[in-house]
Amino acid sequence: MTSKDRKKLEIDDKKYVWHPFTQMRGYEKETPLIIEEGEGCLLRDMEGNSYIDGVSSLWTNVHGHRKKKLDDALKEQLGKIAHSTLLGLSNIPAIRLAKKLIAIAPAGLTKVFYSDNGSTANEIALKMAFQYHQQCPWGKRSKKKFIRLSNAYHGDTIGSVSVGGIDLFHSMYKDLLFPSFKAEAPYCYRCTFGKTHPACGLECLTHVEGIMKAHGQEIAALVIEPLVQGAGGILVQPPGYLKRVRELCTRYNIFMIADEVAVGFGKTGKMFACEHEGVVPDIMALAKGIAGGYLPLAATLVTQEIYEGFLGEFEEFKTFFHGHTFTGNPLACAVAIASLEVFEEERTLDKLKAKIAHLAKRLKPFASLEHVGEVRQCGIMVGIELVYNRETKQPFPPEKRTGHRVIMEARKRGVIIRPLGDVIVLMPPLGISKKEIDLLCQAVYDSIRTVTG
Ligand SMILES: Cc1ncc(COP(=O)(O)O)c(C=O)c1O
Repeated sequence: MTSKDRKKLEIDDKKYVWHPFTQMRGYEKETPLIIEEGEGCLLRDMEGNSYIDGVSSLWTNVHGHRKKKLDDALKEQLGKIAHSTLLGLSNIPAIRLAKKLIAIAPAGLTKVFYSDNGSTANEIALKMAFQYHQQCPWGKRSKKKFIRLSNAYHGDTIGSVSVGGIDLFHSMYKDLLFPSFKAEAPYCYRCTFGKTHPACGLECLTHVEGIMKAHGQEIAALVIEPLVQGAGGILVQPPGYLKRVRELCTRYNIFMIADEVAVGFGKTGKMFACEHEGVVPDIMALAKGIAGGYLPLAATLVTQEIYEGFLGEFEEFKTFFHGHTFTGNPLACAVAIASLEVFEEERTLDKLKAKIAHLAKRLKPFASLEHVGEVRQCGIMVGIELVYNRETKQPFPPEKRTGHRVIMEARKRGVIIRPLGDVIVLMPPLGISKKEIDLLCQAVYDSIRTVTG
């Protein structure tokens, strides 16, 4: 590509593309970074500069870019068919993948409902929990509401936003949202109750239980990101929290929807985060890493009990009237099968243990940086919270865009990351090498020092 062609693409990017979660006025002033290629954990821009993909292309990529087995699976499927509908028909990769997902999912989940992104996977979960209670003889018609958690993020469609808890993203749409009960989630660094873990005895759970006690008859489901609230700032839940939430849901006859969109497919060190606490949710939402980070694919897994609540004669109208055009797309499903095979063949999760430990070691020096308030790690997911004052935990003024300045600095050092406010997120592909972890951590450390002095 000539430099003239590159310039033209830059101009057209600003002229025609509206980028998500991006203030375009600022973007229009910056030189856009346009990715042309990827290989392993590296991304390459049009100029041929390489960068470590420090957030796995928005938390999706699993085994690295251009993984041969995944590339081959895609090409092979292309030689057969790119897409056919799953509405009333089936296709081979969708069937095979569903069987594989159920085999690795927490025991008790038996059916797979496909869609194409994390928001829809959750949207489906909400509608299923709601509809089940409306039509099922053993359901409860009064159960129409949901419990959402503070700092939760479940996607950007209206249903998913209704159960979200990040004011910056969600408050603008409040008049469009359905009502739900907000419970305080654990954010131990800034505990709402002013307590310290473990002395607190998980007081935040008392709050959840209080809502259940008072309103259990109205509540269809509680929605939770198991183990780590991702977009909320990589907020790692204290041990035992998830299990206790499960127990409370069971006690008050409330479905537990586990949103494993971010944490699923190895990010926490196990295939699914729920496994860490032996939890079986009633509904589980999957997306992002499901197809190795190659193609848009999502799945909502449910128990047999929920599935059976939708069975009946046609004229009973118990059908789940929901489906997206590209539901169960054969290309995406074929790649997802290949990705799961790589997990088995390469023992990805076994090898990941040493990488997680190595990452923890490399993160240690961050804690002594003057403006690092807390370093949170769960598996390969990392959040480094920057603060103006470590003693008081006072944040930097938002208009300083400290997190943004750090990631722009990291770019100069060959690393692509994306912050959540002033939380610097690292979430490389599971396929990252120890050497690449070293490079990633060093670049981020230096960037934080440069920006925060
Ligand atoms: C936990 C969680 N749920 C849902 C979503 C939404 O997924 P998508 O962007 O594919 O709609 C995300 C995206 O970051 C997420 O982190």
